[in-house]
Order: sequence, then C-alpha cells, then structure tokens
Amino acid sequence: MQLKIMPKKKRLSAGRVPLILFLCQMISALDVPLDLVQPPTITQQSPKDYIIDPRENIVIQCEAKGKPPPSFSWTRNGTHFDIDKDPLVTMKAGSGTLVINILSEGKAETYEGVYQCTARNERGAAISNNIVVRPSRSPLWTKEKLEPITLRSGQSLVLPCRPPIGLPPAIIFWMDNCKF
Ligand SMILES: *[C@@H]1O[C@H](CO)[C@@H](O)[C@H](O)[C@H]1NC(C)=O
Repeated sequence: MQLKIMPKKKRLSAGRVPLILFLCQMISALDVPLDLVQPPTITQQSPKDYIIDPRENIVIQCEAKGKPPPSFSWTRNGTHFDIDKDPLVTMKAGSGTLVINILSEGKAETYEGVYQCTARNERGAAISNNIVVRPSRSPLWTKEKLEPITLRSGQSLVLPCRPPIGLPPAIIFWMDNCKF
C-alpha cells in the first residue's frame, strides 16, 4: 500500500513548484510599482520664523522627494498664493523653493505673512511647517540712509538724543544715555 502512495505524493508536490514560482513572480511584479510610486516627503524647508533681510532676496525653501516627482503649491495667510500673478516671485525648477525678488523693486513688508508649501503627486501630499515671514525690526537692516552733518568750525551742533535709524547698537546705547 505505502509503496503505491509514495510516488503519487511526489508527483503532486512536483506539480506545485510551477505554481509557487508563478506566485513569486506575481509578488515581485507587485513590488516593482510600489517602488516606482511613493508619496511625497518634505526634505528641506525654511525655519518656522523667517526674518527678512532687506539686503537679500526672500528665499523660502521647500524641497520634497517622491515618485513621481511632486508638484508644489503655496498658501499665504491660509489662502492659495498664486505665484504666476506676481512677477517678483519665482519658483525654482524641480523644487518648491520661492525666490521673491525684493531687491529689484519690491517692498519686503508686502510679503509679510504665514507661508505653507504643499508637495503633491498621485500618491498623496506632504505639507511643510507654517513659515512665518516677517521684516526685521533691527535698525541696522533698514534701508534709510544717514545724511552727513557738516559743520563749519566754531559752529555749535545740537544732536538729537533719540538716535537716527541705522547707527550701530553701541552708538545707540551711548546716545540713549546721553545728556547734551
Ligand atoms: C498676512 O497676515 C498678516 C497678519 O495678519 C498681515 O500683516 C499681512 O499683511 C498679511 N499678508 C498678506 C500678503 O496679505
């Protein structure tokens, strides 16, 4: 009896080998698209508090990876920020990073606000931090120019105790304490 069954069992398991190979191929076939398509993840972004330096253009960073490469959009103060409508604003190719050309003509204060970047592809979306962009209150960064004071000898000069904007902090400190 046993001798008769054994060959039968062997034939059955041998018949399963192609099936197992087929299943393995199916699983690896499923693996390939999973690797080709990945939801975006943010890889680089500006700090949450961005202080505008009027000597430089505003660069708000947002980089993300994903498969296929994500496309980027921005909100400002919670509503869609239409970059195409502002000639001073450009988005870097292959990235979400914004460059706002305030050096050419713009006023930095116009761009004050809360910015947020979204990277999106067919698999999903990733959202950056809220990036708060605000102008600096530091007197050193104001664009105001100081008028030179010219004196003829013997002429007296009254300096205002409130220092003009643009002086180094040490002089401001000294002038704040002055009693002319
Ligand atoms: C965004 O909101 C801030 C605070 O309310 C405001 O000062 C700023 O002007 C707004 N920015 C824009 C571009 O509307």
